[in-house]
Amino acid sequence: MLKSIEELRAYRAEAKAAMDSENRKIIICGGAGCVSKGANKVYERLLALLEEKGIKFNVKLEKCSDGDPVRVTKSGCHGFCEVGPLVRVEPQGWLYVKVKPEDCEDIIANTIVKGECVDRLCYTQHGIVYKKQSEVPFYKKQTRISLSNCDKIDATSIEEYLARGGYTAFEKALTQMTGEQIVNEITESGLRGRGGGGFPTGRKWSQVARQTRLPKYVVCNGDEGDPGAFMDRSVMEDDPHRMLEGMIIAGIATGASEGYIYVRAEYPLAVARLKNAIAKAEELGILGDNIFGSGFSFHMHISRGAGAFVCGEGSALTASIEGKRGMPRVKPPRTVEHGLFDQPTVLNNVETFANVADIINNGAEWYKSIGTENSAGTKTFALTGNIKNAGLIEVPMGTTLREVIFDIGGGIRDNGEFKAVQIGGPSGGCLTEDHMD
Ligand SMILES: Cc1cc2nc3c(=O)[nH]c(=O)nc-3n(C[C@H](O)[C@H](O)[C@H](O)COP(=O)(O)O)c2cc1C
Ligand code: FES
Repeated sequence: MLKSIEELRAYRAEAKAAMDSENRKIIICGGAGCVSKGANKVYERLLALLEEKGIKFNVKLEKCSDGDPVRVTKSGCHGFCEVGPLVRVEPQGWLYVKVKPEDCEDIIANTIVKGECVDRLCYTQHGIVYKKQSEVPFYKKQTRISLSNCDKIDATSIEEYLARGGYTAFEKALTQMTGEQIVNEITESGLRGRGGGGFPTGRKWSQVARQTRLPKYVVCNGDEGDPGAFMDRSVMEDDPHRMLEGMIIAGIATGASEGYIYVRAEYPLAVARLKNAIAKAEELGILGDNIFGSGFSFHMHISRGAGAFVCGEGSALTASIEGKRGMPRVKPPRTVEHGLFDQPTVLNNVETFANVADIINNGAEWYKSIGTENSAGTKTFALTGNIKNAGLIEVPMGTTLREVIFDIGGGIRDNGEFKAVQIGGPSGGCLTEDHMD
């Protein structure tokens, strides 16, 4: 257990130095889509070949020297699920798509040994070969904040999260900001709830901060009931600490001391990753009593849903955590005053919490500079159905459906004609060509 913020900083610096030293890296997408297409076999084949050829490699974060050993790691979803299994090679940033175990020989012989790109494995469109992931049209119009770590880190490693600046916002909130300053920063950023209602997050937090009854709770809505949606799932599975960090900051801001994450039972990997992340944060002293001697305590719990769509609604969700039947109730009283166990409660969606750390680190002005005047920041979307590039994307607010469907999504499969798009699950609707812009 780390005893002070200084020790946390030193621990992070060590992890960062190790990550910076890894200049030859093979990142295999370990997201559900790629695993279902054989990513684990690709990973095993790569390791077997490195072993066979006597090339030194690491599977865990470790300090390297002069590019040795090669780091081989599994990240979360890269978003471009359509063309998985995906393999990215660093430092070049080359992206290989639809990789099969038979392709691994080429990757090792050419890319790892000779430093050359295997063009036949790169994404190709209209005869153009896109070597780098950042150049692929699918990624070009995207801005990734809440999904920024998903294709980069091993979600089971708190050290990798720390190495990429993880828990610096928590540190800032705990040591340099008052609760009021945190609430003001979130209010000024223009962050609005990503769970569907779009309620201003800062206003919600200020309403809870104002309550004098203790204890207060922070609840994360990870129910994600909308059919075809897997945005929150990706954050919980691939970058769980980002969400925990947002929740802890909400606790500091509002004076809450307990956090509950409500996850749908259909997401067993998310539950496992969150459990692991909570245990690691407790081990380091980021969660617990009197955190780093600050006087602030925070404990995190996981509550699993049982597959009811309605339990995604805030008051049904808190009833479900309490062990009651998950039924929405009439408001008022509102959750901010009488929420979980009838106490003042901050209830936000996974993606909402996933934006918090970057806002605290980079400031409200930075966040407001992304998106539109009334809707700041980015939004993640799962693209599914009759679209060429099914997958997970994150775009600035204000991006048109035409850009999402045609520029990023690649248009309709088999060059079919666009008819309609369903947005936002059952509470959304079907939009036609007239609404594309
Ligand atoms: C029937 C119904 C289902 C809902 N399902 C979800 C859900 O799966 N995930 C979610 O975050 N919000 C869902 N909501 C919205 C929540 O009630 C709540 O507004 C939201 O979680 C608040 O977080 P936010 O302000 O960060 O968006 C649902 C609402 C209704 C009415
Ligand atoms: S699961 Fe690999 S890109 Fe989504």
